[in-house]
Amino acid sequence: MTDRPASMAPLAIYRRLLRYSLAHWRLFLVAVVGMVLFAVSETAFAWLMKPLLDGSFVERDPTIIRWMPPLVLGLFLLRGAAAFVSDYYMADVGQRVIKTIRTELFDHFLRLPSSFYDRNASGQLLSSLTFNVDQVANAATQAVTVMIRDSIKVVGFMALMFYLNAKLAVFAVLVSPLIAVLIRWISGRFRRISTRIQHSMGELTGASEEMIKGQRLAKVFGAQDHESQRFDRVNERNRQLLMKRALTQAASNPVIQIIAAIPMAGIVYVATNDSISGAMTPGAFAAFLGAMVGLLNPLKQLTTVNATLQRGIAAAASIFALLGVDAEPDSGQQPLGRAKGAVCFERVRFAYDPAKGEVLKGIDLAIEPGQTIALVGRSGSGKTSLVNLLPRFYESQAGRILVDGVDIRDYRLADLRRQIAVVGQEVVLFNDSVAANIAYGEDPAQVIERVEAAARAAHAWEFIEKLPQGLWTPVGQQGVLLSGGQRQRLAIARALFKDAPILILDEATSALDTEAERHIQAAFETLMQDRTTLVIAHRLSTVTRADSIVVMQDGQIVEQGSHARLLANNGPYAELYRLQFREMEATG
Ligand SMILES: Nc1ncnc2c1ncn2[C@@H]1O[C@H](COP(=O)(O)OP(=O)(O)OP(=O)(O)O)[C@@H](O)[C@H]1O
Ligand SMILES: [Mg+2]
Repeated sequence: MTDRPASMAPLAIYRRLLRYSLAHWRLFLVAVVGMVLFAVSETAFAWLMKPLLDGSFVERDPTIIRWMPPLVLGLFLLRGAAAFVSDYYMADVGQRVIKTIRTELFDHFLRLPSSFYDRNASGQLLSSLTFNVDQVANAATQAVTVMIRDSIKVVGFMALMFYLNAKLAVFAVLVSPLIAVLIRWISGRFRRISTRIQHSMGELTGASEEMIKGQRLAKVFGAQDHESQRFDRVNERNRQLLMKRALTQAASNPVIQIIAAIPMAGIVYVATNDSISGAMTPGAFAAFLGAMVGLLNPLKQLTTVNATLQRGIAAAASIFALLGVDAEPDSGQQPLGRAKGAVCFERVRFAYDPAKGEVLKGIDLAIEPGQTIALVGRSGSGKTSLVNLLPRFYESQAGRILVDGVDIRDYRLADLRRQIAVVGQEVVLFNDSVAANIAYGEDPAQVIERVEAAARAAHAWEFIEKLPQGLWTPVGQQGVLLSGGQRQRLAIARALFKDAPILILDEATSALDTEAERHIQAAFETLMQDRTTLVIAHRLSTVTRADSIVVMQDGQIVEQGSHARLLANNGPYAELYRLQFREMEATG
């Protein structure tokens, strides 16, 4: 059969899920005991109707009259305690599984290659981490509870019915599938609406999220009305769906009860029929009816358990698929303490997507320890792509890159990356204190002197000093509480703090005022001292001070040399210089 692998998969998923839960088997066992006791106490309560009515009211047996009230109380106590134990411990298992899967997924995200993040929307990844994981655990715990508790209930109530009156029980068993089918039909409708609601909820958050992020854009483009109308449409659709659900919800119980009344009336009719009624006491009949009513809910639960399970398995499938994505390759064995900083690209070719053509077409470039290389070139010529290969954010398809004469793939990934500090075009800051952002990855309190030294060297101290809590001032989400130039100086301080022998620098293109510019320029100079530096240069001052300028065009190095020599060449660099750097010369 061709569909075999597909039909095997859910089973494998189910087994894997089970493994997560079985890690907490002790808690699970306690919950199961609770479920069993709960089901037994419910059955026992239905049975109690018989001695209660027959013994207390018909025969007026003094022992039964005395013992009945404490028995009722005891049964309810047992039932309550059992319900608590099963719900609480099942939730405990569920939450532990949620936490384990989340940790596993988060840690896996940390090791996935950059190309994975290029292909997958961050929103989707976030929702698997939050929503899908919840779905899995909830569906699984719910399904397990139903399967154990409700099947015992069904067995218990059935046994009671057969014990009380076998003929009547046969009749009841014959009509119960009919009820089950009807109940299933109603719940099915309910579920379809639920999925649409989930989708519409997604649209609702999507629309509001975009507005909140793009609020300035909406304001300056006068698009408030547009956003408002867009939101209104989604909002209205959501309301309609929720009302549909409310309608089904409100109608479903009465409808189910009315449907159940039909066989119930049939039972009453049959039971009062001469041939059978003689055999049944009023208490037995009441107990029988009680068991029948009691059957209704577990039957309903059991008919829908498969859908619950399917929902969980679908969510689990997407999580396990993510966990199955290969992590970054890290098979190098060579340890590396501190590199001297010689970097060499040899015939390096690279494509993000081989189908879409190469972005780097044979790069040869040698950099001596401590040298500064300025990369210049038009937008899209491959400068960022080139420097991204060095920390192995992406893997080249051909050629090799050497650090201190050894192929970077032979180093342990963590060792290689420890040699490299990156200051990007867009500064990434975490919602934490200034100090924690500088000493990223370390406990800032332990290294506060080094943090301060780095901040001073990065010319960031003058503004940090004036902040209300100094180094301990929170920078806000993405550093919104700081200016662009301040953020950049923090990034430089972070790179200085790391004190790596190789530095990758993507200069900001946005122009700053001369005062900020002067500070940042000075900070950059401190940073580049005694380090091998690859700088993607947008400033003339950086270009002129570099040991060598590399001009890139369409994925190739077309020229290399000093500023003066390249100008004299009157080639691509001279042209670029006229386009890009000359006006800076006038102002700077
Ligand atoms: N993550 C990516 N996935 C696919 N293609 C990419 C990716 N990043 C860049 N590219 C493509 O690779 C080419 C080189 O881009 P790259 O970012 O290296 O240029 P650049 O020289 O840094 O340009 P700029 O000066 O504008 O930053 C471009 O054609 C770009 O479309
Ligand atoms: Mg770039």
